[in-house]
Amino acid sequence: MASFPGPLLNKLTTLTLLHTVSTGKRHLIIEALHKKYGVFVRTGPNTLSINSLEAVGPIYSSAQCFNRSEGYRPGRFGDNSLFFIRDRQRHNIRRRELMRNGDPEGIIAGAQKAMMQFEISFLLGYHDEEQKEALRDEDLNMDAVFAIEAGLARVVPKDGVVLVNRYIPGGTIVSVPAYAQEVSPENFWPAPLEFRPERWLEGGLGPDSILRPGALICFSFGPFGCLGRQLAMRELHLAVAQLVLSYDITLAPAFNEELFMDGVRNIKTTLFKFPLLVQATVRKTI
Ligand code: HEM
Repeated sequence: MASFPGPLLNKLTTLTLLHTVSTGKRHLIIEALHKKYGVFVRTGPNTLSINSLEAVGPIYSSAQCFNRSEGYRPGRFGDNSLFFIRDRQRHNIRRRELMRNGDPEGIIAGAQKAMMQFEISFLLGYHDEEQKEALRDEDLNMDAVFAIEAGLARVVPKDGVVLVNRYIPGGTIVSVPAYAQEVSPENFWPAPLEFRPERWLEGGLGPDSILRPGALICFSFGPFGCLGRQLAMRELHLAVAQLVLSYDITLAPAFNEELFMDGVRNIKTTLFKFPLLVQATVRKTI
């Protein structure tokens, strides 16, 4: 691990990454670290962030993808929920079992409820007696509580692995930073930070366009990937279509983009300190 670059404070203690997470700006901080140090950044004593699309397949979506890290372990609480099962084999069996039972809505509602309870209880600092006990017992170590916020963390199998031409020892916690990949000029070019939906059309944004849909890892991929993806996308498509068909929308004159962006906090979910001020007028014709 010593050969991987990163800030000294990150190499020494997990607290640095915890602090990064607590600022709500992890996505930007990790992206900046990659700009400074390159594809590999040591974000913790035993943690590597790998900013490369090449690493997504082996880590997340191949048949040999890695187990989830301890960060997905919220104690006994929610232990049997799909989301919290870390071992690939066990997870595989459970996921297939649930799918075979033909009640995807039931699974999803259950998983969503468990996730929400988990998140809300942590956000509010509230734990019932059983949760408290579970957390006290063994799980309230910082890796376990926060690793999940530090990316889609996975554990390198015991024999180690070669990723992006580098050997990584077994037991290392690895992740590919979703935000950094999703705004990377290597994956989306030109204007990676701009909302230019035409990039998805044939011909893209011109002859030099780059478009790598595989870099959109916000739902994750592979055996552990989001089960609600299709539903979420359908809801989003419907909501956006309904909005743009019903209203003409522009940013309000009072809207301050810099302030708005500064107020975006991404911890367990994305929070907005300042509202997105828009002016909407009902469309006369559809
Ligand atoms: C924009 C909305 C959403 C995003 C960005 C999102 C993202 C994610 C991510 C990143 C994971 C973790 C995957 C991993 O560990 O590799 C996940 C898991 C999961 N999500 Fe979503 N999700 C969304 C909406 C939903 C919705 C609407 C549902 C249910 C109705 C849902 C159900 C699940 C379930 C059941 C899992 C656990 C899958 C498993 O462990 O096999 N998600 N989601």
